[in-house]
Amino acid sequence: MLIHGKHYHTVWHDPAAPEAVHIIDQSRLPFRFETLRLDSVAGIAAAISEMKVRGAGCIGATAAWGMYLAAREAPGRLQQCAAELMRTRPTAVNLAWAVRQQLDLMEKLNTAEEKVAAARRGAEAICREDIAACQAIGRHGLPLIRTIAAARPGPVNILTHCNAGWLAFVDTGSATAPIYAAHDAGIPVHVWVDETRPRNQGARLTAWELASHGVPHTLIADNAGGHLMQRGKVDLVITGADRVTRRGDVANKIGTYLKALAACDCGIPFYVALPSSTFDFTIGDGLLEIPIEERHPEEVLTLEGCEADGTERTVRVCASGTPAANPAFDVTPARLITGLITERGILPATEAGILGEFPGRHAKEEK
Ligand code: MRU
Repeated sequence: MLIHGKHYHTVWHDPAAPEAVHIIDQSRLPFRFETLRLDSVAGIAAAISEMKVRGAGCIGATAAWGMYLAAREAPGRLQQCAAELMRTRPTAVNLAWAVRQQLDLMEKLNTAEEKVAAARRGAEAICREDIAACQAIGRHGLPLIRTIAAARPGPVNILTHCNAGWLAFVDTGSATAPIYAAHDAGIPVHVWVDETRPRNQGARLTAWELASHGVPHTLIADNAGGHLMQRGKVDLVITGADRVTRRGDVANKIGTYLKALAACDCGIPFYVALPSSTFDFTIGDGLLEIPIEERHPEEVLTLEGCEADGTERTVRVCASGTPAANPAFDVTPARLITGLITERGILPATEAGILGEFPGRHAKEEK
């Protein structure tokens, strides 16, 4: 995506300076645009757990580069490095998927040089495939928006939750891909952006992304979605996903389930967009089997923001001593999901629909 006229990915590697990788520091957006240079596995692990990089695809791609740094730094301790990276964020399955892909590539190689070269090629491939998958998600999701636009005048109103935009991947995004595709095709769209407490990825990241691309949007409080749906102001919901089971249950940012319930009550289509790296074919029941990350209560007790003069501040939003809980994700059962927009097309959120497109994956991964 373009930022101030320059094309950026969320994570990148410069072959001319191979000892490090670079990321956009998402924890400072939209108040400051900064990039960070990371040259160690510990640095990558910290960037993921502190959410300087976040979003399922971006975490996976960054962890893949983390395994490249592991091959350079400690070729004899790849399993320990992999475990260190996988511990950082438990819900988004792309992280473990990318780390395992890298381990598999390096497993049978003997020399450190071979491992480094294989891990570099592996990380490049994961980034390339992430971009291609998101572009394909855009192509497959576009007809959903086009059909609504053709049926009546005015913009198509799409509600999204959290940030499943280009910042959550290497480029383009999942939930935003059909939106960008529609906007670029001249179809009038308007996006309702959930603020997404506690970390406000909607307010801070999605609104910034959409504005940078010129897509009309309106920020709303998390609890406003149901009200807007009841009044006919939402045509379509598209969210991202952090892990999807083979039966179609979806783990996504906390609050997604409530949006799906409201959409179901109002008869509004609720789609989830994901690349196939977000499927966890090994599990069926999302409620029982997806680990939900519990983050620090401080994220709920405080708010980060920026004063008019640009000074960033963190303020407490409740009486000091207030206890807080911070589950970061919830699970939306497959029965509430209209369809899964993937790089292979739109799949029903059912075991038959998913495994029909990925035959043999379940059996292969349980071995
Ligand atoms: O905690 P985050 O910011 O890493 O959460 C991920 C998300 O932004 C959403 O859950 C998103 O819809 C899925 S990431 C493609």
